[in-house]
This record gives sequence, structure tokens and C-alpha cells, in this order.
Amino acid sequence: MTHTTASRKIFEPAVLGALTLPHRLVMAPLTRNRATPEGVPTPLMATYYAQRATAGLIIAEASTPTPVGQTYPDITAIHSPAHVEGWRRVTEAVRAEGGRMILQLQHGGRVGHPDTSGLTPVAPSPVPLPETIHTPAGRVPSVVPREMTAEDIRTTVADFARAARNAIEAGFEGVEVHSANGHLLHQFLAENTNRRTDAYGGPVDRRIRFVVEVADAVAEAIGPERVGLRVSPGNTVNGIEEGDTGAIYPALVGALAGRGLAYLHVGYADPDSPVFQRIRKDWPGTLIANPVLPQDRIPDDGGLAHGERLLAAGADLIALGRPFLANPDLIHRMRTGAPVNQVRDAYLMYVGGETGYTDYPVLDADA
Ligand SMILES: Cc1cc2nc3c(=O)[nH]c(=O)nc-3n(C[C@H](O)[C@H](O)[C@H](O)COP(=O)(O)O)c2cc1C
Repeated sequence: MTHTTASRKIFEPAVLGALTLPHRLVMAPLTRNRATPEGVPTPLMATYYAQRATAGLIIAEASTPTPVGQTYPDITAIHSPAHVEGWRRVTEAVRAEGGRMILQLQHGGRVGHPDTSGLTPVAPSPVPLPETIHTPAGRVPSVVPREMTAEDIRTTVADFARAARNAIEAGFEGVEVHSANGHLLHQFLAENTNRRTDAYGGPVDRRIRFVVEVADAVAEAIGPERVGLRVSPGNTVNGIEEGDTGAIYPALVGALAGRGLAYLHVGYADPDSPVFQRIRKDWPGTLIANPVLPQDRIPDDGGLAHGERLLAAGADLIALGRPFLANPDLIHRMRTGAPVNQVRDAYLMYVGGETGYTDYPVLDADA
């Protein structure tokens, strides 16, 4: 018998914390730089997310919990009443279309610039990003971040907790703590960016401490069943060299395992890699996996086969980024085997208004 959509696990419902998802395909967080310069979500963003409400869950793009955490121009924030109001318009639009949405909380750490945020970035250690960084005036050399004091660490943990409460007030179902892709939490985990000699640096059990404290504070603020955490083991984006990947993630997963979090999300997940298999074995809860798709092209099936390989390797839910970016009706296309749109212009992923954002075509549902 051929696979009918009904017989495929990827289209079966799944429970995630207090939510029931209609199927197992999740929209991965995608920074699109369409907020105001102050980080307030716009009505255009409400349209974009509402178009994608048939995702099993939308993980909304990285949002900074504090001004110094801003990475790039026009990214979203969640530290002021105006941010809460802006995001509420977005969550209401998605809910009106029957969707469910959580917000990713991201502090950039050394991935930031005074020309963008008005502030010197902070990081575990004064180790600059080894590349230029995008600012309102284009790409410029990165700056040396200020080493976080013990007081900075306490304040930042509290900023994450407050941002999580703001997200709930804005109508999100929960939050995802961003500990991936070379941002602040990942900078604490990795050897080359964390040179501290205090309780937050050195051996692995100290380098994971900040991440665990943030997760705990956020879980205490809004309830662990509304909190997920994203990691990207081995990923070298933003100049990260973890060093001991094979030690970091077992330690981190072990420390987080008993805390009742809604999920762990593994970015760039390879079902054949030992670290993925170890995480699956050790993590007792829901595991979201984001497959490694070709960089230059979305597969014709939208990533379905890649996702099914990860489900077979033990993942519970599959996150996809560019397939949802380019296909508001990705789920319909996958269910019917229709071809998918490709990303039209990579430049417009991170810049612009409606073009390359809300104007991707959908199939005629009656055709
Ligand atoms: C335009 C764009 C923006 C992204 N923004 C984020 C982000 O805000 N947070 C995050 O964790 N990952 C971000 N990512 C990574 C994606 O979530 C995802 O891991 C990556 O695109 C690979 O998945 P895909 O091949 O399905 O697109 C971004 C990727 C792209 C292409």
C-alpha cells in the first residue's frame, strides 16, 4: 500500500505541554527584520504569521528580552508594553486562523553592535565575533564585548523571566529559550567564547550553569510546561567552537531532564550523528528536530522525507524553516504532494516589507 497522508505519522496529532497539535510539523523560528526600529511587531507581521497558521505550532522569530540583547536592525523585542501590544496583534491574528504560537527569546551576546542597539554588547568573555556584523549602515567590524559581571548574569536571568511573562501577556502559548546558533547562551556553553574562571566557566558542568539558570527562571515565571529550549550541537555559526560537543550536551540534557520542560529543540539535527542519538536517549520529554536540508534548495517534497527520517530516529516533532517561509500553505502542499515554492530572493529573507514576505503564492485549495 502506498503511504496515504492519513497513514503517515508526521500528519498524526501530537500533545505538547497543554497543547494538542493537529500534526507534527512546526514552523522554525525565522528572524525576518520586519519590526519597527524599536522592535515592535507590525500589522504586516500579523498577516505573515496568520498566513502560516496551519503549522502544527509556530515558533515565532527571535525576540530580545533586553535592549543590549539586540542582534540586528529591526528585529523584534519583548521588554516593553509596546512590544507586548504589537505581539498581541500577531497572536490574535494567528489564533483567529486556528493556529498556536510561542515566542523564541534570544539574547545575542557578542552578536550585537553599538550602532544597532546603542550599547556595547555583553558576553561571557571579551572575545569578539570573528567576522563583520550587519548594522543599520551595512556590515561593519564587530566590537569586543564587555565581560558580564556576576550582577549582569543575575540581571540577564531576570530579564529572560520577565520577557517570558510578557510573552504570555501578549497571548503566546509559551516561549522557546534560544541556546543555539552562537547567541549568548551558546556563548556560555562553548569553549572558545567562555574563558571565565568563576562558577560559569571552565569545566562543562560550569559552562552549562547559565543556560540552566535561565531555563529555571523562565520555567518558574510561566510554568515549565510552557517552556522549550533550542540547541544546535556542533554548529559553528557565529564563530562558535564548542570544543567538547560530546560532553556539553549530555551534561546539559542531564541537568534539564528532570525539570518538566515542554520540549527540547535540536537545530540542524542529523539522525545519524552520535550527539543526536545520545540526546534522544537521554531526553525524557518531547523532542523537536530541525533537519539539515540542502542550503541552495528546498526539496521538492518540502522536507517531508528528511522529517520522516528524524521521526524514525525518535524525534516527536519536525521543525522546518525555509519551507514555511516560502510556502504559507506548506501543509496543504505536503498532504497533496504538490510542488513547493523556492525562496525567491535570499536577500529579502532579512530585509524589506511585503515583497519576499507576505507575497508567496498559495495553491488554489479547490483546484
Ligand atoms: C531567514 C532565517 C532566519 C532565521 N532566524 C532564526 C531565529 O530567529 N532563531 C533561530 O533559532 N534560528 C533561526 N534561523 C534558523 C532556522 O530556524 C533553521 O534552523 C534553519 O533555517 C534550517 O532549517 P531549514 O533548512 O528548514 O530552513 C533562521 C534561518 C533563516 C533562513
